[in-house]
Amino acid sequence: MGAEGGRGLRAAMEAEELRVGFVGAGRMAAGLARGLLRAGKVPASSILASAPSDKNLDAWRESGCRTTHCNLEVLQESSLVFLGTKPHVLPAVLQEIRPAVGPQHIIISMAAGVSLHTLQRLLPAGTKVLRLMPNLPCVVQAGAIVFSRGSCAGDGEASLLQSLLASCGLCEEVPEAYINIHTGLSGSGVAYVYLFAEALAEGAVKMGMPGALASRIAAQTLLGAAKMLLETGEHPAKLRADVCTPGGTTIHALHQLEKGALRATVMDAVEVATSRARDMAQD
Ligand SMILES: NC(=O)c1ccc[n+]([C@@H]2O[C@H](COP(=O)([O-])OP(=O)(O)OC[C@H]3O[C@@H](n4cnc5c(N)ncnc54)[C@H](OP(=O)(O)O)[C@@H]3O)[C@@H](O)[C@H]2O)c1
Repeated sequence: MGAEGGRGLRAAMEAEELRVGFVGAGRMAAGLARGLLRAGKVPASSILASAPSDKNLDAWRESGCRTTHCNLEVLQESSLVFLGTKPHVLPAVLQEIRPAVGPQHIIISMAAGVSLHTLQRLLPAGTKVLRLMPNLPCVVQAGAIVFSRGSCAGDGEASLLQSLLASCGLCEEVPEAYINIHTGLSGSGVAYVYLFAEALAEGAVKMGMPGALASRIAAQTLLGAAKMLLETGEHPAKLRADVCTPGGTTIHALHQLEKGALRATVMDAVEVATSRARDMAQD
């Protein structure tokens, strides 16, 4: 689609006519849908989600979305279709929906490790496909999302997706080669931060603070530090230096972290997770 089609879609969106489908209705799909609903981007009645069981669909119905057990129905009723199944299920799902995919559709896969090349090979020639990589905080509208477009998706599709997903957190278009790096940095990175939060709180417990209070303060410390990074735009080294009184507590603690090679270890973690994502994409 060119700029013309993009304008058409934006007009449809403004007129609240955009019909959004989700094939696969698990955690990540629900997180994205919740972001769209909370931001008022799409009315619940315009969202249709499919899954084999009712395990996850009950919650969609409670928020006013429509649901089905039939993936093809999602294609028949929606123009913007998110593929939210696990990666190993996706080839069979693509085979199933392929006959129903047409020029009216924008197909967006969020499956880790499934390349645009594979998506385009398994869908009809000319399909407008984008590949999205969210992270778990999308479920609380604080995600870090990157996406890349396939050869038939144009500026209209990219800007539509970006404007819709801005309600789920940071959303940036990147070259596809960055998607595995994003997995190592942010998809998996969420777990590194949880590990750090746990260690922070346990240090406080060791020094005598109750665990629940320590966990709340650790979480707020991460939130506040991240907010300052984003709002000031400063380099983290500058903000870190600002906290270090000469001869004070922080510089003593940072020396300890350097002895434990925190920075090198975290860089190694991002590297191995990125390499693993690349390997998995080739399996
Ligand atoms: N979770 C993350 O942090 C994360 C981060 C980045 C990317 N992703 C990607 O997001 C995708 C979904 O992950 P998730 O964590 O949301 O998984 P999930 O919670 O297990 O959800 C998977 C959904 O797919 C449905 N499903 C299974 N087989 C299907 C079929 N044949 N047709 C239609 N739907 C089918 C499941 O149905 P039931 O409801 O009946 O079980 C479920 O609703 C994955 O591809 C993953 O790589 C996840």
